[in-house]
Amino acid sequence: MLQIQNIEKYYGNKNNVTRALDRVSFDVEAGEFLAIMGASGSGKTTLLNCISAIDTISAGKILLDGVNIADLSEEELAKFRRERLGFVFQDFNLLDTLTIEENIGLALSLNHTAPKTVQERVRDVAQKLGITDILPKFPYQVSGGQKQRAACSRAMVAGQSLLLADEPTGALDSKASKNLLEIMSNMNQDMGATILMVTHDAYSASYAKRVLFLKDGRVFNELLRGERGRPVFYHEILDVLSALGGDISDVI
Ligand SMILES: Nc1ncnc2c1ncn2[C@@H]1O[C@H](COP(=O)(O)OP(=O)(O)OP(=O)(O)O)[C@@H](O)[C@H]1O
Ligand SMILES: [Mg+2]
Repeated sequence: MLQIQNIEKYYGNKNNVTRALDRVSFDVEAGEFLAIMGASGSGKTTLLNCISAIDTISAGKILLDGVNIADLSEEELAKFRRERLGFVFQDFNLLDTLTIEENIGLALSLNHTAPKTVQERVRDVAQKLGITDILPKFPYQVSGGQKQRAACSRAMVAGQSLLLADEPTGALDSKASKNLLEIMSNMNQDMGATILMVTHDAYSASYAKRVLFLKDGRVFNELLRGERGRPVFYHEILDVLSALGGDISDVI
């Protein structure tokens, strides 16, 4: 579904270059739940921004469903983001002036989907995530956990092929983090969502089926969960993090 081929990203000018991504390559298959880990400054957000075409790469190729995103015009890109990508941000980014129902349906409405279809799709996904009763409410009238579910519903309501999450548990306490990670796991396992989650947190990453480790803009290591339980996987992730430079306080 997603092919990252030898991408490089440089910031700055000739005299002061930061190499944020250095020949990064990997594929994401449909139905995967992949976590990208790495210390602060290792290039995680840059990678996500390049995949969502918020930022442009300096070299290499990014193909989503076979389309090279560098070939798209601004207009095609906007459409591509709305239709193919779902985002779950650290603060969930719900618009306070819209109801939960309108927030979830926003991408569809922007695509000029018929209102009746929007309503059906929103209600279907809201039911799956158990938030039907809060649809008429505004974000400030619902709990943090309900906001999470609304943000997750929005990320998949238009049948987006790929969900991108940047530190989705960053602002949450441990109970709320666990809830969100379980929702994302369910979306992946039961609803077939493909998820790419950036995190510096080993506990969050242990919910994924595969973890890629970035170091100084390069893929340093990769772990597959396989049939192992989550707690075992969690400890393996911690082991890789310590091998990443022993600077564990920086990454957990
Ligand atoms: N707009 C920019 N201009 C110049 N340098 C940048 C810019 N954005 C990021 N960088 C640099 O690129 C490198 C990678 O940054 P990035 O934000 O991708 O890190 P990260 O892994 O997301 O870190 P964190 O865990 O702190 O969010 C860093 O050295 C950073 O200083
Ligand atoms: Mg970041």
